[in-house]
Amino acid sequence: MSLSLGVIGLGRMAQVILHSLFEVGEYVPEEVIGIVGQSRSIQKVLTQFPKGISVVDSNNPMAENVWDAPVKILAVKPQQLNEIKEKVSSKVQFSKDRPLLISVLAGVKLKRLQDLFPSHVCVRAVPNTPALVRAGVTGLSWGEAVSTEQKLLVEKMFQPISKVFDLPEVYLDAFLALTSSGPAYLALIAEALADGAVAAGLPRHLAHQLTYLTFEGTALLLKQKELHPGELKDMVASPAGTTIRALRHLEKEGVRSAMLEAVVLAAQKSREMG
Ligand SMILES: NC(=O)c1ccc[n+]([C@@H]2O[C@H](COP(=O)([O-])OP(=O)(O)OC[C@H]3O[C@@H](n4cnc5c(N)ncnc54)[C@H](OP(=O)(O)O)[C@@H]3O)[C@@H](O)[C@H]2O)c1
Repeated sequence: MSLSLGVIGLGRMAQVILHSLFEVGEYVPEEVIGIVGQSRSIQKVLTQFPKGISVVDSNNPMAENVWDAPVKILAVKPQQLNEIKEKVSSKVQFSKDRPLLISVLAGVKLKRLQDLFPSHVCVRAVPNTPALVRAGVTGLSWGEAVSTEQKLLVEKMFQPISKVFDLPEVYLDAFLALTSSGPAYLALIAEALADGAVAAGLPRHLAHQLTYLTFEGTALLLKQKELHPGELKDMVASPAGTTIRALRHLEKEGVRSAMLEAVVLAAQKSREMG
């Protein structure tokens, strides 16, 4: 069976995508080759997948075979990008489309990808970790010369694990700052809220469970009733009540401004990485 998919950097994010591709039957393990940085990572990665997938480290001469695949997912850390060299094999004749390189790297622009991988057409994909439970969001920006078939393939890759948004590239830094970093902000808030509930007397496991249910319910309510967050806040905060007392404290401590600046800083960092 010939190689159909090459994964350069088979770490956490690439594994999420690959699991979904196997589950929906888009690829079978025998068609996939994955590259990792260290030989000691190979065994651990292999245990995550059905038999048949090839995994080698980047120093193994076999790693060059990744360039034979007509579709590649590039999922190394942005600082590892310079180690990656395109070695397109002459063995493979790519029928009418140039091979496709899908990069999930934070901040790295299409222009740079195109310069580094000139024989490929490039796509930027910005997924997030809730993709692990098929509740992610993915932003996609297309490079020049991507064919309709290639666009459909990329959408098909990310749709089972996320809601897909086609976006101009200029939006991707802010998109990433909100959606890719967002789970970390919300996890930090969840931990702090649960700690507060424990301090106020709830058992730890109950405090966590109630925190997640409150997050889920609030997100659903905002979405389904199409409420502005300010409307929901006003609905909950009755005059001289418990909520307004807590909100007054949050405003005094600058929580709103801290969250706003956090997103701006993450977007700035993403631009710098590009
Ligand atoms: N995690 C997220 O939520 C998220 C969201 C959006 C975008 N991203 C992007 O996804 C990319 C990967 O993130 P991650 O969290 O999946 O990182 P990760 O788990 O550290 O995965 C990086 C992978 O690259 C491999 N690698 C290192 N050097 C290599 C080389 N020279 N050639 C080939 N492979 C090499 C690593 O292997 P070893 O482990 O053996 O070194 C590892 O398998 C990043 O660029 C990030 O910006 C991540």
